[in-house]
Amino acid sequence: MSKRPIGIFDSGVGGTSIWKEIHSLLPNENTIYLADSKHAPYGNKSKERIIDLSIKNTELLLQKDCKLIIVACNTATTNAIKTLRETYTIPFIGIEPAIKPAALQTKTKAVGILATKGTLSSDLFSKTTDLFTSGICVIEQVGEGIVQLIESGKLNSEEMKILLQHYIQPMLNANIDYLVLGCTHYPYLIPLLINMLPKHVKIIDSGEAVAKQTQAVLVQHNLLNTKIAKPKLQFYTNSNTEIMSALLGNSYTVEYLDF
Ligand code: DGL
Repeated sequence: MSKRPIGIFDSGVGGTSIWKEIHSLLPNENTIYLADSKHAPYGNKSKERIIDLSIKNTELLLQKDCKLIIVACNTATTNAIKTLRETYTIPFIGIEPAIKPAALQTKTKAVGILATKGTLSSDLFSKTTDLFTSGICVIEQVGEGIVQLIESGKLNSEEMKILLQHYIQPMLNANIDYLVLGCTHYPYLIPLLINMLPKHVKIIDSGEAVAKQTQAVLVQHNLLNTKIAKPKLQFYTNSNTEIMSALLGNSYTVEYLDF
């Protein structure tokens, strides 16, 4: 039972940033990662469409006998996880922007959040923001175009640098001391952002928290794989295998799958 794989899906390659955290904390676990890059970005799609795509990905992971599914996508979590949990019996782990820790720790009382349109306009995001940010100025910015650039292998391009500078400048003008990355593609931007942000601005994402939550839920359901053996790590994309492989440091085989 516990040897069954953990399933992970995202609208594309970004959720591999979450997979890295999972694999680092739970190195014995077999994993199956699905990158639905053919349908990226999810962030500009309707809630109904995001739910349909999330169901399609879930069905495929269930066919592959996954014991737990990580929705490694803020947009799919904030729009579809409720439906997934109501429809299927296995545990789902979601990811949401780390607005709460940023709001609790900010000294300048101003935090920036970069996320997709789908995440920022979701009910779940509004609820969390209302709950934790009273008296704090939250600068929300849609990261229009960022996912597309990463999906097309232009992570470190001049185009990306110009876009990021344009998005973070209003946040800097508002004197933020925390920048929340509310999309699983964005941790790949950290090296670029470090060069652009003043030293006192801290960048936070939810990857580590998701890995810890996954561990806790596996223990709770008696699903943790405690056998020390080389895990089977499978990566599937319905688009470009080379771009995904490069983000994984060219250390793993990425297979093409039409889904
Ligand atoms: N990685 C997805 C997220 O965390 C990107 C969403 C999109 O495809 O727009 O939101």
